[in-house]
Amino acid sequence: MTSLALEPASVAEATRIFLRLVRPRPLADPYPQYRRLRGLAPLHTVRLPGLGTAWTAVSHASVTRLLRHRAFGPLSQIHLDGLSPGWRRHPFTSCLYQAMAFQHGSAHRASRGLVNADFGGRAVLSHRAMITGLVEELLDALERGDDEVDLMESLALPFGVLAISRVLGVPDARALELAPLLRFAGAVFEPLATAAQRAVQHESGGRVLDLLGGLLADRRREPRDDLLSRLARHPFPGDPREAERAALGTAAMLLIAGADSPASLVGLGTRLLLEHPDQADLLRATPSLASSAAEELLRHDPPVQLVVRTAHEDTELAGVPVPRGGVVFGLLASANRDPEAVSSPDRFDITRPPVPALAFGAGPHYCLGAPLARLQAEVLFPGLLRRFPALRAAGPPVYRSPGTMLRSPDRLPVSLR
Ligand code: HEM
Repeated sequence: MTSLALEPASVAEATRIFLRLVRPRPLADPYPQYRRLRGLAPLHTVRLPGLGTAWTAVSHASVTRLLRHRAFGPLSQIHLDGLSPGWRRHPFTSCLYQAMAFQHGSAHRASRGLVNADFGGRAVLSHRAMITGLVEELLDALERGDDEVDLMESLALPFGVLAISRVLGVPDARALELAPLLRFAGAVFEPLATAAQRAVQHESGGRVLDLLGGLLADRRREPRDDLLSRLARHPFPGDPREAERAALGTAAMLLIAGADSPASLVGLGTRLLLEHPDQADLLRATPSLASSAAEELLRHDPPVQLVVRTAHEDTELAGVPVPRGGVVFGLLASANRDPEAVSSPDRFDITRPPVPALAFGAGPHYCLGAPLARLQAEVLFPGLLRRFPALRAAGPPVYRSPGTMLRSPDRLPVSLR
């Protein structure tokens, strides 16, 4: 691969392709565009409306370095002022933009340290029976219902929200009320959402905070043996308002990040399996492939397509200088299809030996919930395929907008029998 990143013609070309990828109307198949970007260079300079010059890392090596190198970290509050004007006035963004995913250095380590053990391998093993029971409950409900359903509404969304809610200690009825709000509130992670999408996000996020605030207050009065009670009683630093904002921000971040991507994975993964009936048959017949199938589903079409970072000092990436404050998009979905890291990357193969895929990111912000998400996928997909052997598509999926960062079907019509 040659580095053309500094040539103006390639800046224009890369900008055009990147804008096509991040426009509000999502592409059903963005992968040819990622391939074109990788074919041009491992890293591109792009010019984005409202942001000016920025960079996009598209090769596996450049995205890995972006995520792991200590010169790069989450966007600063000044960037957020530009991308999400007025965020400090809105209760939801003022909580979320100060929580884990947006923190750096020691503040970030403290936030993760508070909940790391709750999402580590051993804790997650203790959730296996809960996840298996939840999958059975939801499949039973599907079996009692119509032949044709929207799988997002009838399986993916309830599965995503109920699983993380049971881990946190949010009651099921509350979780189901929260489900649609969490989907809209998730735009808080989208760096390039439109003003209209931000407005819906503020409104839905505000209602999520009201509900969570009520639950935290309940747990302060009557603690239970759950994570929510621990967050409610944790002595967060700062004055009482700041401490309450930190408790709410942590709970909301876990709930949104923990509900959204697993639901998206159910939709994207089911669509992939329906498009590859030989692979679906193989998984149905060979439950021991559950774990490698989950990895391959995540690699091939990851729910989190890109992440965003800023340079905290003057630095370089793939030989291109990036000044302090420069914004770099790391295209995880492109990295996962880089032939320099994965052989025959466009082939969907659930027997593939382990590859260094980046579906959960890498470095200090590596997904906190990765062990839980893997367990969810390992239980759900074989269960769904075995329960409904004739499962098939009943129409094209409708993709979520904005899907810049968080890719998912909004609707996935399927026929169950
Ligand atoms: C299929 C499911 C999932 C996928 C694909 C996914 C993907 C990711 C990715 C790529 C990141 C890194 C973002 C970055 O570097 O900027 C991340 C971070 C995070 N994820 Fe997940 N995730 C999933 C499920 C979960 C679950 C179940 C939880 C449960 C709590 C969770 C909680 C988080 C949190 C809190 C962060 C921020 C970590 C930090 O900033 O240190 N995720 N996730």
